Amino acid sequence: MPGTATKVIVTGGAGYIGSHTVVELFHAGYEPIIVDNFVNAEKSSIKGIETILGAKVKLYEGDSGNKEFMERVIAQERGISGIIHFAAYKAVGESVNQPLKYYRNNLDSLLTLMELMKEHHIPHIVFSSSCTVYGQPDTLPVTEKSPKKPAESPYGNTKQICEEILEDTVNSGVPIKVIALRYFNPIGAHPSAEIGELPLGVPNNLVPFVTQTAAGIREKLTVFGDDYDTHDGTCLRDYIHVVDLAKAHVSALQYLGSKSEENSYDVFNIGTGQGSTVLDVINTFEEVNNIKLNYSIGARRAGDVEKVYADVSHANVELRWKTELSLADALKDAWKWQLSLKKN
Ligand code: WQD
Repeated sequence: MPGTATKVIVTGGAGYIGSHTVVELFHAGYEPIIVDNFVNAEKSSIKGIETILGAKVKLYEGDSGNKEFMERVIAQERGISGIIHFAAYKAVGESVNQPLKYYRNNLDSLLTLMELMKEHHIPHIVFSSSCTVYGQPDTLPVTEKSPKKPAESPYGNTKQICEEILEDTVNSGVPIKVIALRYFNPIGAHPSAEIGELPLGVPNNLVPFVTQTAAGIREKLTVFGDDYDTHDGTCLRDYIHVVDLAKAHVSALQYLGSKSEENSYDVFNIGTGQGSTVLDVINTFEEVNNIKLNYSIGARRAGDVEKVYADVSHANVELRWKTELSLADALKDAWKWQLSLKKN
């Protein structure tokens, strides 16, 4: 329903979490407006989104950190009510080798958007943050009040600094309402297998490496350490289906729209509230997809946190959001998506 729906700019909207969020925004009656420079996304994602929706979506190809470009988008799209800001570089290892690239890109884009929100009276922003701000928590499950730890990488540091930029801007009295969503580990793909994760090169993250190994693209998966203090010795994480994560962004916008005050800053953990180990993921993947995975135990990976999973009660209560999909659902959808890639 172009023209009548509430318009929301989605920076990085062609990316993994962004594309799934665009789908859920549309289903919820919003008009998502994708801004993406395709540095870390494929044009095929737009086609996948439109296939799922059976409708065209608006796309502006460019850098959300480029002020002139974003001025044109805002001038073209009258009455934008909010921004969901995904666009950022997010490879932890790469950020250690190229810190300036990460600080320039991840901070510039947010600073540009904050200036534009002020100048054009755009009231709402939902920011893509990360559980990485907690480092290795002292107690589990981790709540929004758990202390933030010194970042383990420039990538993690950009997330912490961005949260501070947002909070300081709200505290300065600018009439904007802000939510930072601290994601745990997003996995899986849309059940249609029209959109999903498209890691560039060799995947850093566990689940795409699992599916590429199962597909024969990778020879073998190495489990990075089995001498941790967990039930099976492998690291523990909170793996959340990307569709549940996408829906949390819709709930966040609805929450902002319902808030009476004109300026606020809220943080929410977005995870399942359950911990799963690397071997839990492998065993579940094998079971739900009836596949034998080729893996072996190797050395620990530097910088890995031993155990982290979320207390999600704040989002459950305030956002009236909760996960509906399981680890098994996510691993089934991840495999279905991987198989769809082999066909293309
Ligand atoms: C998960 C577990 C690995 C690959 C990172 C970022 C975080 C967020 C999510 C953006 C760990 C183990 C992995 C492999 C393995 N990104 N593993 N073999 O490190 O929890 O979080 O991605 O916001 O900021 O840090 O996710 O998927 O890389 O690893 O054993 O080939 O899987 O050791 O225990 P991580 P991950």
